[in-house]
Amino acid sequence: MPGLTAPSDYSQEPPRHPALLINCKEPFNAEPHRSDLISSYVTPVDFFYKRNHGPIPIVDDIERYSFSITGLIENPKELYMKDIWELPKYIVTATLQCAGNRRTAMSKTRNVKGLGWDISAIGNAVWGGPKLADVLELIGIPKSSQITPSGGKHVEFVSIDKCKEENGGPYKASIPISQATNPEADVLLAYEMNGETLNRDHGYPLRVIVPGVIGARSVKWLDSINILAEECQGFFMQRDYKMFPPSVDWDNINWSTRRPQMDFPVQTAICSLEDVNVVKPGKITIKGYAVSGGERGIDRVDVSIDGGKIWVEASRFQKAGIPYISDDTSSDKWAWVIFEVEADIPESAEIVAKAVDTAANVQPENVEVIWNLRGILNTSWHRVHVRVGHSSM
Ligand code: MTE
Repeated sequence: MPGLTAPSDYSQEPPRHPALLINCKEPFNAEPHRSDLISSYVTPVDFFYKRNHGPIPIVDDIERYSFSITGLIENPKELYMKDIWELPKYIVTATLQCAGNRRTAMSKTRNVKGLGWDISAIGNAVWGGPKLADVLELIGIPKSSQITPSGGKHVEFVSIDKCKEENGGPYKASIPISQATNPEADVLLAYEMNGETLNRDHGYPLRVIVPGVIGARSVKWLDSINILAEECQGFFMQRDYKMFPPSVDWDNINWSTRRPQMDFPVQTAICSLEDVNVVKPGKITIKGYAVSGGERGIDRVDVSIDGGKIWVEASRFQKAGIPYISDDTSSDKWAWVIFEVEADIPESAEIVAKAVDTAANVQPENVEVIWNLRGILNTSWHRVHVRVGHSSM
């Protein structure tokens, strides 16, 4: 019996929390309610968004599960979980965000192709497993490599799930070898999420976690790693998850003109309020998340209750009792910050949030200027409308 198999239908899906908002049942794609998302700094596994492109693979026998490392290397190797468990385990708190987060809002300005997501295709988890840099060292690729002696420059991760977009083939993606072999980049082969064995939805038995990079590159259910001269040629690298300008539509698109998206840009969303909430006049709490990719922290979150004329700075935190200071060793550099501010809402209002990252990158005011046909990377200022009324929220 093989270790890991991929069903071709949806009859053996794992159980899921009933409170999730389902955006697509088959393949299963769901996100938590806004308020559930920021109920804690670390997102509970049940409330972590699930983004799948096919039926969830099954482990028949964990002892027989293995993945191969092949390609432009001297000695290809087959690794089993026991080999992985023997390597030093690292714990990395990292936010995973789908590039399609907030797509529904982008599609309201002009139609986009892709699954609709509200603001919760994002979650922050504590991942556990060996660093990819240590795993690659096992097969003779030294730390901080730019190229292997046989010309390998990219590390491709191949799964086993059957994806329609790949004509029934597996999901795959790659990252540069310089990132894969850099211990500071914290790329993991994770077998744990929030201190527990990874569950099936999130990649059991082994998945890649590429911190600071769009979720699409964190391949679940790892089946093989290939060292390549060029980046992965799979659908999700070459014909998806690329950011095009607003002038490109389905009649004039040329996929090869853009690179696959890697780092995610600075992002914020207000989670304590739905659009539209009815609130009592007086003080309300405005709370949400802010995060940036590429190891950049959050320098500031600005909140306005008058549509963006007057701003106040929100307080930011990660762990209770420890003030969040971007770039400080006490802060989780790959993780979101939760922001919070109290405001008096005398009358119906438009509440807006925007963040600034440690490279002083800001978010665009309007979604129109970043509209793209696939509806990715909607990082425009997040707005919610509240109506002051007599019923409480
Ligand atoms: N890996 C495989 N094998 N199959 C997939 O469909 N989806 C990717 C990535 N890895 C995917 C995958 C995308 S687009 C995202 S955003 C993340 O997994 C989502 O991870 P999650 O479901 O654990 O939240």
